Amino acid sequence: MKNIAIDGPAGAGKSTIAKLAAKELGFIYVDTGSMYRAMALACIRQGVKPEEEEKVTKVCQSVQVSIEYKDGQQIVLLNGENVNPYIRTEEVGKMTSAIAVYQGVREKLLELQRDLAKKADVIMDGRDIGTCVLPDADVKIFMTASSVTRARRRYTELKEKGIECNIEDIEKDIIERDERDSNRKIAPLRQAEDAIVIDSSNMSVEESVAAVIKLVKGA
Ligand code: CDP
Repeated sequence: MKNIAIDGPAGAGKSTIAKLAAKELGFIYVDTGSMYRAMALACIRQGVKPEEEEKVTKVCQSVQVSIEYKDGQQIVLLNGENVNPYIRTEEVGKMTSAIAVYQGVREKLLELQRDLAKKADVIMDGRDIGTCVLPDADVKIFMTASSVTRARRRYTELKEKGIECNIEDIEKDIIERDERDSNRKIAPLRQAEDAIVIDSSNMSVEESVAAVIKLVKGA
């Protein structure tokens, strides 16, 4: 099986690019952020606060997170319910990075992610894929972009969905989230030593996809 790991900060373009590259290569795209988001949604629904580690862990350990694919799209199931329509909001994003620091939360998903990579050729994106989930991945990519670019992309994405938002607030949220993801003790966002950096600030989607495909084909 071929395993490709893509890590990087929020809004760097990982999911858009990984999805297109996977389609072209005939690989399965695994979006690990969505799995963490599903668990954050479960916590929000149960009224648990992010700082309540024990309660958060209990909720996450008790729910069932799984994924399936429909027309090539990844669907995240929370206790069997398709939660894709609810997990891409800023509220869920903030909650996600707050609970993703806990060991019990991460353990829950680690095995599921490794299993997926054992069974199929995958492009998996997240924060700790090259460093922790798939340390033996065939290709490791660290995808990044300036915080202004990343905020602009997230702003456009939310606007397209009809969600009212303010670009300064989004940039602030993104910087805060990156800091928390990078400074946590367990599985922080970090460039693996053997990762190749793609800075997508001044690259089109097509150029970034081509860069990923070239790396995979060359591996
Ligand atoms: O799409 P975006 O980059 O904004 O976020 P995402 O990939 O959906 O991830 C949301 C949050 O989940 C991140 O800010 C991390 O805190 C957490 N996450 C993680 O800890 N480990 C992963 N492998 C993926 C996401």
